[in-house]
Amino acid sequence: MADSPESLRQLLRMKLGRQKFVVVSNREPYVHAFQHGRMRWTRPVSGVTTALDPLMRVSHGLWVAHGNGPADRQASDTNGFVEVPPDQPEYRLKRVWLTKEQREKYYDGFSNGALWPLCHVAFRRPVFREEHWKAYREVNELFADKVAEEIGESRAFVFIQDYHFALLPRMLRERCPNALIAQFWHIPWPNPEVFRICPWRHEILEGMLGNDLLGFHIRYHCQNFMETVDREIEARPDQELTAIVLRGHTTRIRAFPISIDFAGTSRRAASSETDALAESLRRKFHIREKWIVGLGVDRLDYTKGIPERMAALDIFFAKYPQYQRRVVFVQVGVPSRTELEEYQSLNDEVYRAVRKLNRKYGYREWQPVIYIRDNLDQPSLVALYRMAHFLVVSSLHDGMNLVAKEYVASQVDSNGVLLLSKFAGAARELRDALLINPFAPSEVAEQIREAVEMDSIEIRRRMGRMRERVRENNIYKWAGSILKKLSKLA
Ligand code: F6P
Repeated sequence: MADSPESLRQLLRMKLGRQKFVVVSNREPYVHAFQHGRMRWTRPVSGVTTALDPLMRVSHGLWVAHGNGPADRQASDTNGFVEVPPDQPEYRLKRVWLTKEQREKYYDGFSNGALWPLCHVAFRRPVFREEHWKAYREVNELFADKVAEEIGESRAFVFIQDYHFALLPRMLRERCPNALIAQFWHIPWPNPEVFRICPWRHEILEGMLGNDLLGFHIRYHCQNFMETVDREIEARPDQELTAIVLRGHTTRIRAFPISIDFAGTSRRAASSETDALAESLRRKFHIREKWIVGLGVDRLDYTKGIPERMAALDIFFAKYPQYQRRVVFVQVGVPSRTELEEYQSLNDEVYRAVRKLNRKYGYREWQPVIYIRDNLDQPSLVALYRMAHFLVVSSLHDGMNLVAKEYVASQVDSNGVLLLSKFAGAARELRDALLINPFAPSEVAEQIREAVEMDSIEIRRRMGRMRERVRENNIYKWAGSILKKLSKLA
């Protein structure tokens, strides 16, 4: 099994031969911008791009994505191509340009205003608007054309990412008859009762059934999808093959729990650069060595349960005053989808919750919560992971949650406690975490206390087992399993 960059490279060589390998996603892996008049590049905060970049580096393939950085056009050639990573090129990125209106309706509107709440079932009402749906279809068409320009009728592997492109598989099948098409759905799939409120459910399902292989994080989402299809359209589920046959075409449905580059993250965590960075972060944010550090790292998204986490901290400090001035919680909140009202109000809500806690309990230089509302780079995040005695992932619903796995990979001396929502896909694998119900803040407060008081042998035992799990099921193995499965269908 491909579980390292080298073995994945060999597998790719064996399975792909000279065929093209194309990844399609909405979010691009590298973003160009101007800073003080000079062109700079950054990496976005996105589980998908972080997970796929290592795969692309070994495959040297082509990545097609929406170019939305302020300096993206200047950094790309006339056809939207740019070599990436910019400092050490290993593959090509083809940027697709969208108009402001397309972006607002396809990305903010249908993808994040309708499909995101629909699939996450996080008690936010999805908004279905005809004009958003139209733009969604239009952008899927545009991507289909752009990918078809590259592969035409040749044999190729196309690997589509996520809920932005439910219609793309079928559109591509029509344009590129010799391509093998796989899609990975990075967010949950709801049960049929929830999905049936979507006015365009049939088109979405038919679009996705253009894939040869369709992956979800966990089996439960696969089952939900199979049941949804069974209820909604005239397609034949094949329970034995875990496949669906629609008008003679078969789509295999499988669970592939996504992961991270365990070795790379561990290596970085163990480096002296990380120690130095942790030191400078301590100074910058006034985090005393003697304090017990709790950590949360999230995009500012209502599915992540950040206000619920603050409510749990409030109960914890009220019920266990002995931990005031001893435990500090560092919350990294990365602004996300800021055009949407839901996200703007969450932003205010988190800010208010932090301020309330700090006013209520703060004493001299100690504040219970240090709020870093910023997009920290990966080295700084790893330094924070290393520093944190415990990490809280309190998602109300989450496909996987790679922050949990990054934290595990960063605990090179197995010294840290993970509090993980039962409703995150990662909870299926990381059974040695303290599994929490974010909807029950008093319970979470108790589990924070448990984390703070856990003895070091128990901490090492739990973390050691989780590290083994993530070491083994890493991103290369994830990509390798999908590739192997897909190539068997050729
Ligand atoms: O989980 C789905 C996902 O698309 C992930 O890539 C990532 O964590 C997040 O959502 C990114 O969202 P966006 O690309 O909208 O910023």
